[in-house]
Amino acid sequence: MTAALRIDNVTVSYGAICAVRDAALTVAPGEAVAVIGSNGAGKSSLLRGVMNLASRTGRITFQGQQLESLRPHVIRRAGIGYVPEGRELFPNLTVQEELTLGARMIPRADRPQMLEQVFGLFPRLRERAKQVTRTLSGGEQQMVAIARVLMGKPTLLLLDEPSLGLAPVIQDVVFAALDQLRTAERLSMLLVEQNAYRALALCSRAYVLETGTITREDSCETLRNDPAIRSAYLGH
Ligand SMILES: Nc1ncnc2c1ncn2[C@@H]1O[C@H](COP(=O)(O)OP(=O)(O)OP(=O)(O)O)[C@@H](O)[C@H]1O
Ligand SMILES: [Mg+2]
Repeated sequence: MTAALRIDNVTVSYGAICAVRDAALTVAPGEAVAVIGSNGAGKSSLLRGVMNLASRTGRITFQGQQLESLRPHVIRRAGIGYVPEGRELFPNLTVQEELTLGARMIPRADRPQMLEQVFGLFPRLRERAKQVTRTLSGGEQQMVAIARVLMGKPTLLLLDEPSLGLAPVIQDVVFAALDQLRTAERLSMLLVEQNAYRALALCSRAYVLETGTITREDSCETLRNDPAIRSAYLGH
């Protein structure tokens, strides 16, 4: 079976600083895969490398198509939805305008149905449709960031720390939506998270990234029960 995403020998650097070294990973179609790692491990750099937003070498294939030479907007159009750390919303747009922006690559006729779908996933956003995004709570902004990407009908989601800065009860809402996308839509996902507890609960397989190097790969169940992982990433 062709992988949804395959990364081989990928190195991401900023000038002399090497943020990710010789990384290899795969995401099967419909699979949710986590990369866990602490502050500065290189999680964001890995996703930025896939999106060609940071300088990288190596091989990256999406559904069999090589991405190395493609520009970020072409990669998005090919079907990869990237939700960056920090969300990157337009502060003065309303929720509905922001979501419409996410749908610019899909036919106009399909947009109302997509809007209904994301409002179904995040009912809170339907209530806030006319509100400008800068006045939303952090959790609502994270929902908009995910929903905006979903409006482009991606087949693979790259998520950079969706739990960041959110209260546990809001994390519940966001991760329940991701779980629904995984089970009901069979969307492939690559989730990078410092919150290993959330990541290992959502995904089926995970990689551990330590100072730029992938040091382990296993099922989330095995990692959740591993004493070394528990003490390093789960706080017990
Ligand atoms: N634009 C940049 N220029 C130079 N170095 C950078 C840049 N962005 C990241 N780095 C460095 O690359 C390394 C990895 O950073 P990265 O942001 O990928 O880590 P991270 O795992 O996402 O961390 P966090 O959990 O804090 O988000 C760090 O040492 C960081 O200082
Ligand atoms: Mg990061």
